[in-house]
Amino acid sequence: MSIAFNKALVTGGAGFIGSHLVEALVAEDCEVIVLDNLSSGRLSNLEPLKDRITFYQGDIREREALDKAAKGCAVIFHLAAVVAVQQTIDHPVESAKVNDIGTLNVLETARANNAQRVVLSSSCAVYGDDPRLPKTETMTPKPTSPYAVHKLSAEHHARIYSELYGLKTVSLRYFNVFGPRQDPASPYSGVISIFMTRAVLNQAPLIYGDGNQTRDFVYVKDVVNANLLAAGMNDPQGSIFNIGTGSQVTINRLWELIASLSGASNQPGYKPARDGDILHSFAGMDYTKSVLKFNPDVSLEQGLDMTFEWYRGQVTDDRGGQGTEG
Ligand code: NAD
Ligand code: UD1
Repeated sequence: MSIAFNKALVTGGAGFIGSHLVEALVAEDCEVIVLDNLSSGRLSNLEPLKDRITFYQGDIREREALDKAAKGCAVIFHLAAVVAVQQTIDHPVESAKVNDIGTLNVLETARANNAQRVVLSSSCAVYGDDPRLPKTETMTPKPTSPYAVHKLSAEHHARIYSELYGLKTVSLRYFNVFGPRQDPASPYSGVISIFMTRAVLNQAPLIYGDGNQTRDFVYVKDVVNANLLAAGMNDPQGSIFNIGTGSQVTINRLWELIASLSGASNQPGYKPARDGDILHSFAGMDYTKSVLKFNPDVSLEQGLDMTFEWYRGQVTDDRGGQGTEG
């Protein structure tokens, strides 16, 4: 994909999705600035690119750090956030300072620096436990965690910056993103990162509930493409798009697919469903396909294949994401 800008800031660029975005931007010969406080990201995610980017270890809560990083950037991709939902439940005020005020700082910085565009990473979490499927952008959001409230508030801030100040903004509601470099370290890490680690270590996974719950898993490179399209689309006015695949898979089937890649023969253990776990989720993609012109390229099977190869190369210790629980 060719891009029409030559300098971009990626907040949270040392994280899972951010580092893939940085990689794609560098491949397009874009000058890339990364601002990340390394709270959940890692410098090792950017290691192969370190001579081709400018990295600032800094915090989006600090305007000065943002202003310095954003100088001359046409586009700001805003991914930095407290992403662990539980952390936002345990520390609602501290996490709001990052997710809410930090996002306002990013928008203010963009305005002050005459950035052409801000692309915001939002989440399907804004839909909460509304049982209607598929989730479409026209549904009234029903957030059920501080994290989801922060994401919804960030979307609204982005939209009103568009309306009040003419700053062009796009919000992308990612569904369940997966791929290389997703950190499996906590029990609340993405299920694919945990299952991959388990499979590589030849350990049985834990499934919460009966495993018939479904999710819409989107490969990280597709999410990157969605960001690039959002940066280039005509005249966004605070637009909001679902970024998923429009299909769903059960957690039981997901383990079968991963086990078949690894040859793991372990049967999963089952535990009661997690509190607040939604049963089914998948993205309505009509609006995204027609307006953003985004179509995911990578099938679940292809994505799992590439992801498994990466985890196989990485897992050398017993980090399984589920600690000693399973
Ligand atoms: P990640 O934790 O790997 O990346 C977040 C990055 O932000 C990390 O590198 C972290 O160090 C950085 N960061 C956190 N607080 C910061 C601060 N105060 N200042 C500067 N940097 C800070 O998570 P990810 O999965 O790559 O998520 C990227 C974005 O996508 C987030 O906004 C997240 O909410 C959103 N998202 C992710 C998913 C998913 O499935 N992974 C789904 C929906 C939305
Ligand atoms: C995801 C987001 C969360 C967001 C929510 C909103 C991630 C990592 N989390 O949660 O931030 O609030 O969408 O819709 O993207 N599971 C197991 N075994 C495991 C791990 C998970 O059975 O070891 C199950 C979970 O109970 C769940 C499913 O797998 O039913 C997916 O879990 P997870 O990857 O954590 O994502 P969500 O729950 O969809």
